[in-house]
Amino acid sequence: MIAALHARALRASVTPLRPFTRGLFSQSAPQSRRSPLVTGFYAAAFALSAGLFTVYYFDARSNLHRYIVMPVMRGLFDAETGHKLAVQVLRSGLSPRDPLPDDPQLKCEMWGKVLSNPIGVAAGFDKHGEAIDGALQDLGFSWVEIGSVTPQPQPGNPKPRMFRLSEDDAIINRYGFPSQGHAAVVARLRKRTPKFLAPEQDTAAFKPHALLAVNLGKNKMSPADSAEDFVSGVHAFGPHSDVLVINVSSPNTPGLRGLQDSELLQNLLAEVANARSLLSASSVVANKPKLVVKLSPDLTKQQLFGVAEVIRNSSVDGVIISNTTVQRPDSLKDSNKGEKGGLSGAPLKPITLAALKTMRAELPASIPIIGCGGIATGADALEYAKAGASMVQVYTSFGYDGVGACRRIKDQLLMELSKEGKSWQQVVDESIARLSRKKTLTTEGEVKALAASTL
Ligand SMILES: Cc1cc2nc3c(=O)[nH]c(=O)nc-3n(C[C@H](O)[C@H](O)[C@H](O)COP(=O)(O)O)c2cc1C
Repeated sequence: MIAALHARALRASVTPLRPFTRGLFSQSAPQSRRSPLVTGFYAAAFALSAGLFTVYYFDARSNLHRYIVMPVMRGLFDAETGHKLAVQVLRSGLSPRDPLPDDPQLKCEMWGKVLSNPIGVAAGFDKHGEAIDGALQDLGFSWVEIGSVTPQPQPGNPKPRMFRLSEDDAIINRYGFPSQGHAAVVARLRKRTPKFLAPEQDTAAFKPHALLAVNLGKNKMSPADSAEDFVSGVHAFGPHSDVLVINVSSPNTPGLRGLQDSELLQNLLAEVANARSLLSASSVVANKPKLVVKLSPDLTKQQLFGVAEVIRNSSVDGVIISNTTVQRPDSLKDSNKGEKGGLSGAPLKPITLAALKTMRAELPASIPIIGCGGIATGADALEYAKAGASMVQVYTSFGYDGVGACRRIKDQLLMELSKEGKSWQQVVDESIARLSRKKTLTTEGEVKALAASTL
């Protein structure tokens, strides 16, 4: 009895599906009697929604990426696989695009060059220079920093070596410079060089108002205190870059941070500057690359004073503050907080800002500082400008928010700037004038000139 009832109920529940399944799957079914008008309507509706979806997908501003694609990626893939996939999508040219030109209020001046906005992508995202144009042309960054690149190829540390701290909007990584080595990355940069360069083309970014930086690392097996790996980086990448970043601050290569010791740093910077002066004219870039040092946020005040003194007496053109930290603030909640490596993202911001303020007061206005650490919003970027940064870079927030991160930060920044009634460059100029180290007056003439100018 129960079996009979069950069978009837089953028949009843299947019956309504019949006409539908027959239309879909049965060869012998009669041809659809739907009028051509209805079919046309369905086809048009399908084409329209596919078109709208495509437009929505390719617009970097759409919330699809931040609220659907990125959480799904995080659910499906571990942090390193997600990172690799992101680079490959950007490389493929199938990534979404920032559809808007940058507002003139966002213009940012670096070494006399005008960048269209002050947001760069930090080193470590595109380690091998595979997705430069994706980040520059499609996502709207004005500065792309590839690397760190080491002279010889090396695998980096054993996996797993990248961990999300989702509860803290942070990442811990101990990659240890996996790198394809100088030769492979230089070959990739050569391939990217256009056959015919427009006369007004004067940067290695091959995009107006943007810069390409190469971050130089050191092989694990190289002697800890030697400058050789950086010197060979200058020779290899000098002709293909606008900026060379001397990375003495990654926490995952034994001995690297020791190069921030005053004496070693002085020697290193002298050798690197000498190598740059020996570069012959490049067929790609009009000028020799700027030299920028990337510092750790974990230096004590005394150490920062020492580093600043060395930098003041060197030919270094700029400083990036900062790399990841080995500190673990008490505020961390995520279960991955105990992993070894460098912490980046939101919890890094106060640590980096403190180091930046110290350095800004120790460096003259002529040496710009690029702020990097926990920047996720336009308000964060403005906070850095007010602390004396000339421009900023992002990594972790880009990793969490996806392709729209740069556009969103720029839009928020514009709103913040309009509240201030100032452009980015005005905020930067005022902060630098107020916060940077004033020239020490050494002669009586200089003292008199200053007194006269302030009357
Ligand atoms: C997964 C990962 C890999 C990184 N690799 C490098 C690197 O190779 N070289 C480097 O100078 N910095 C590297 N960094 C540091 C970033 O460039 C940046 O300085 C740091 O993450 C702080 O910025 P953020 O808080 O916006 O992420 C890496 C950071 C992360 C999260």
